Amino acid sequence: MVSGVKQVLIAAAYLGGVLAKRHHGQVGSLVAPVGAEVLTVGVIGDYGWTGWTPAPDHFCLEVLPALKAANITIPTEVQNDCDPGDKSYITNATALQTDTSSYVGQVCGMKNCSAFISVGDNFYDSGVDFTTGGILRFQAAWVDMYSQGVFDYAPWYQCLGNHDVVKGQSGVDFETKVAPLYDDRWYFGTKGLPYYSYDLKGKDWTATFVVVDSDCFVSKYQENTSVYYNEYTQKCHKHKDLQVEFLKEEFEKSTADWKFLQLHHPYVSSSGNNTDLLPLIEVVEKHDGIVLNGHDHCLAHYVYNNTNYVLSGAAGYPQAGDCNNGVKLGPFAKFLAANAETAASGFVTMDISKKSVNVEYYVRDMQFLNNDLYPVSHDLEPLYSFEITQHSK
Ligand SMILES: *[C@@H]1O[C@H](CO)[C@@H](O)[C@H](O)[C@H]1NC(C)=O
Ligand SMILES: *[C@@H]1O[C@H](CO)[C@@H](O)[C@H](O)[C@H]1NC(C)=O
Ligand SMILES: *[C@@H]1O[C@H](CO)[C@@H](O)[C@H](O)[C@H]1NC(C)=O
Ligand SMILES: *[C@@H]1O[C@H](CO)[C@@H](O)[C@H](O)[C@H]1NC(C)=O
Ligand SMILES: *[C@@H]1O[C@H](CO)[C@@H](O)[C@H](O)[C@H]1NC(C)=O
Ligand SMILES: *[C@@H]1O[C@H](CO)[C@@H](O)[C@H](O)[C@H]1NC(C)=O
Repeated sequence: MVSGVKQVLIAAAYLGGVLAKRHHGQVGSLVAPVGAEVLTVGVIGDYGWTGWTPAPDHFCLEVLPALKAANITIPTEVQNDCDPGDKSYITNATALQTDTSSYVGQVCGMKNCSAFISVGDNFYDSGVDFTTGGILRFQAAWVDMYSQGVFDYAPWYQCLGNHDVVKGQSGVDFETKVAPLYDDRWYFGTKGLPYYSYDLKGKDWTATFVVVDSDCFVSKYQENTSVYYNEYTQKCHKHKDLQVEFLKEEFEKSTADWKFLQLHHPYVSSSGNNTDLLPLIEVVEKHDGIVLNGHDHCLAHYVYNNTNYVLSGAAGYPQAGDCNNGVKLGPFAKFLAANAETAASGFVTMDISKKSVNVEYYVRDMQFLNNDLYPVSHDLEPLYSFEITQHSK
C-alpha cells in the first residue's frame, strides 16, 4: 500500500512537472480568450538580452581589424556581436530585463493580462536561429524569462525587429516557424510568414491587429555595409509592397471596432523618424487606426496627424537619448518616460472594450546603478494613461 501511495505521489509530481513545462503544440494552439467585456493585453518590446555572450575585446579590437585589412569577409552576426555599445550594456541589460520581467508579471497579475503584444527585438544581439546556440538563447531569454504567473498561459503575439533579422532567413524561420512549435505561447500567425494578422474578440467588440516586418522598409538596411543587409532583407525590401497590400486588405475587410498596426520601427519618434514607413502609415490614417511600435528604448505616447503612436520599447535596456532625455520636440510628444539621467524600464497595458481602448503606461521605479535614477512613487499604478474612444473605420 505504502509503495502504491508513493507511486501515485511520484506520478503526480511528474505530471506537475510536465504541466508546468508543457509548451509544445500545434502552430497557434494558444490564443487569447474570446468574449470578455474588457480584455487586458500587455504591449512589450526590446527585451531579449539574457544569454547573449558578446565576442571578447581581444577579438573585436585587435583580430577584427586585422581580418578586415586582409580582406576577409566578416559575417554580420560576428560584426554585430562586437557592437561596442551593446557590449558595454550587456551586464546591466540582462539584470534590467530580469527585473522588468518580474515587474511586468506583477502588474499583469494584478490587471489580469490575457495576452502579450510584442513589438520586436526579441533577441539581442543577432537574433536566434536553428542552431544549438539559438535554441539555448530562445530558452534563456524568453521561455525561462517569462514563465511564472500570467506568463505561464498568456500567448505572445510576436513581431520581428532589426535584431531578429541579423541572421537572415534562418533567423526569421526560427521565430516564425520553429518557435511556435517549441512553445505554444509563441504566436506567429498560422502561415509561417513574417507578417500576419489576428483578431481579438470580446463580448460585443473586435480588434484587428496587423503585424508587419518593418525591417523590410528601412532603406539604410539596403546598404551593403549594414549588418542588416542579407538575403532576407534584400528580398523582402524588393517585395515590401506585399506587406502594404496585406495591411490594406486586412484593414479593408475587417469591420473591427479597433484596428492596430503592430511593428518594430517608429514612424514618429524623439530620436529618428522612419519616413520609409509612410506607405503603411497612410493606410492606418485612412482607417483611423492605432500604431504600436518599439525600437526606441523607452516608453512614449505620440499623436501625429490625429493618429496615436504607442511606443513600448523599454522591457530591456532603457536609453534616455531615444526619448530625447525627456525633452519634448514638439506638441506631437504627449508623454516621455525619460529624464536627463535615464529612461525608465516598463511596458504598456491596453484595456480593450466596445467603448474604448484604455492605454496605461507602467513605469518602473528605476533604482539601479545604486541610484534612484527615475523615481516613481507608486510604480504599480500607471504613471500616464490615455483613452481612445474614436472607433477605427
Ligand atoms: C481574466 O480575464 C479573462 C478574459 O476576460 C477571463 O476569462 C478570466 O476569468 C479573468 N480572470 C480573472 C481572475 O479575473
Ligand atoms: C584588399 O582589397 C583592397 C581593395 O580591393 C586592396 O587595395 C588591398 O591590397 C587588399 N589587401 C589585401 C591584403 O589583399
Ligand atoms: C557596396 O556598395 C558600394 C556602393 O554602392 C559599392 O561600390 C561596392 O562595390 C559594394 N561592395 C560590395 C562588396 O558589394
Ligand atoms: C519627427 O517628426 C515630428 C513631426 O513632424 C517632428 O516634430 C520631430 O522633430 C521629428 N523627430 C526627429 C527626431 O526629427
Ligand atoms: C498628415 O496629414 C496631411 C493632411 O491631411 C497629409 O497631407 C499628410 O500626408 C499626412 N502626413 C503623414 C506623414 O501622414
Ligand atoms: C552598469 O552598472 C554598473 C553598476 O551597477 C555601472 O557602474 C555601469 O556604469 C553600468 N553600465 C552601463 C553601460 O550602464
